[in-house]
Amino acid sequence: MRRLDDRVKDFLAFARVKPLNLEKVNLNALVTDIAKNFSSRTNPRFRIELHLAEQKPWLLGDADQLHQAVVNLVINADQAMPNGGTLSMETETIEDSVVLRLTDEGSGISAVHRDRIFEPFFTTKKEGTGLGLAIVHQIATAHRGKITIRNREEGESGVMIELRLPAACILR
Ligand SMILES: Nc1ncnc2c1ncn2[C@@H]1O[C@H](COP(=O)(O)OP(=O)(O)O)[C@@H](O)[C@H]1O
Ligand SMILES: [Mg+2]
Repeated sequence: MRRLDDRVKDFLAFARVKPLNLEKVNLNALVTDIAKNFSSRTNPRFRIELHLAEQKPWLLGDADQLHQAVVNLVINADQAMPNGGTLSMETETIEDSVVLRLTDEGSGISAVHRDRIFEPFFTTKKEGTGLGLAIVHQIATAHRGKITIRNREEGESGVMIELRLPAACILR
């Protein structure tokens, strides 16, 4: 179960759309920081694996908000793998975008839920707020980015999430 203050944080973050406080953000540093500091509350066998782009993927963004978005995705992956498993986080620069790809080994998203997962308050969890992905979507959109979620290919369970944000070309 997530602690009450996490749930309250979700509500506040969703209700209060903050202006972007733009700065140079290195996506590699951001995900490395999260991988180091995230500890599963429920799941000692939850593992994060990093595959970082060799060239630093720079973007102009709000580091705190992006941090929050990625943490929300990591929490979901953790919760999707109650018996442990690996979440892979991969960064890449593709043309004018920086991309973060998260792949987990959970049970994936069923077809009946797929169209609703970004809806505020949509949850399939007993203790869920249904705000995690709504917040991620809000933050991605504010950065002129895009998020897509789909199940992994045949034979592999889990979801693949792609967060794509405009790269800061001048910083490369
Ligand atoms: N990595 C994932 N694997 C499987 N299902 C997921 C994953 N991430 C999100 N979901 C589904 O999307 C729903 C909405 O997620 P979210 O908005 O974070 O709310 P919450 O986590 O509070 O349920 C979840 O309840 C779950 O059904
Ligand atoms: Mg969530």
